[in-house]
Amino acid sequence: MMKPLTDSFGRVHDYIRISVTDRCNLRCVYCMPAEGMEFQPHDEIMTYEEIAAVLRVLAPMGVSKVRLTGGEPLVRKDLEKLVAMLSAIDGITDISLTTNGMFLPAKAALLKEAGLTRINISLDSLQQERYASITRGGDVHRVLEGIQAAYQAGLDPIKLNVVLMKDFNQDEIRDFVAMTLERPIHVRFIEYMPIGQSSDEWRRSYLPLSHVTDVCREAGWNVLEHEGPSGNGPSRNMKVEGAQGTFGLIHPVSDHFCDSCNRLRLTADGNIKACLYWSDELNVRRVAHDPAAIEDLFRKALGAKPKNHEMALALEKKDQSHTPTQRRMSQIGG
Ligand code: 5AD
Ligand code: SF4
Repeated sequence: MMKPLTDSFGRVHDYIRISVTDRCNLRCVYCMPAEGMEFQPHDEIMTYEEIAAVLRVLAPMGVSKVRLTGGEPLVRKDLEKLVAMLSAIDGITDISLTTNGMFLPAKAALLKEAGLTRINISLDSLQQERYASITRGGDVHRVLEGIQAAYQAGLDPIKLNVVLMKDFNQDEIRDFVAMTLERPIHVRFIEYMPIGQSSDEWRRSYLPLSHVTDVCREAGWNVLEHEGPSGNGPSRNMKVEGAQGTFGLIHPVSDHFCDSCNRLRLTADGNIKACLYWSDELNVRRVAHDPAAIEDLFRKALGAKPKNHEMALALEKKDQSHTPTQRRMSQIGG
């Protein structure tokens, strides 16, 4: 194996999140504006061949885990073809997908067949009216059908991503945890992050995740620490005693986990982001035919990776040490 991808703080990077499109069939309020979003032109989007070429360089350097994100990755044509191309690369052992779930009834089996191992489905409310309002038009029943389709296809584990927002879904924490009692579902509550939206708007809705444990206590549930399903990442996992599933807390704002960061990001237009939060980017698309240049760019991006993000400073309206990214979440992929 070649020299691993290490940054200047000694963090080894074995995981890449690849956004395959900045387009989406929904318009979640924290992710995209209602209208007027400018999408990246098709000829600036990485082709499947280019993405695979990048991964063929990264895999021998120790990148073994890939997550496909968007926008909504399933609006990209025949995504299962990319999954098959990536799963054929030596050293890639884990391919996951983050999706809003609406296309899973049609796609889950094809994706599984192509080599997808597991899946995360974004679902911020179980109530149709709320779901439609946060996604600006989504249909929660289709997402629930999507979850069912993922099961039937044998994707495992299935995780639900729930972004917690004050005065929006905090009263549903209990319902989401209750879902784990009877079903092997893994709910992950995620703190709302200040990426790409006005910081005042964000500050009004941000809620620290300590709230979740309070809700469980009030419900009278005995909550146990738990190692959680495979592919844990930064989630602190728990389960209600006797439950089939688990739940986890991902708290980038109140308690960042940057010290153990192992992830790289690649945007749909081919920009390497060593950190979700900062604006630093290097474009790999133009050199996607040149393995040595790909390696150089990734090492360069990692060499400049800052020690941590500063989301908590945004909460206090304090100055930041670098420039935060101007991208919307749909242009990064979470
Ligand atoms: N904070 C936290 N999570 C977010 N997501 C999108 N925007 C934010 C934000 N500002 C989530 C989506 C999806 C995943 C890719 O990231 O809900 O589950
Ligand atoms: Fe689409 Fe996901 Fe963004 Fe919602 S959060 S608009 S589903 S990409």
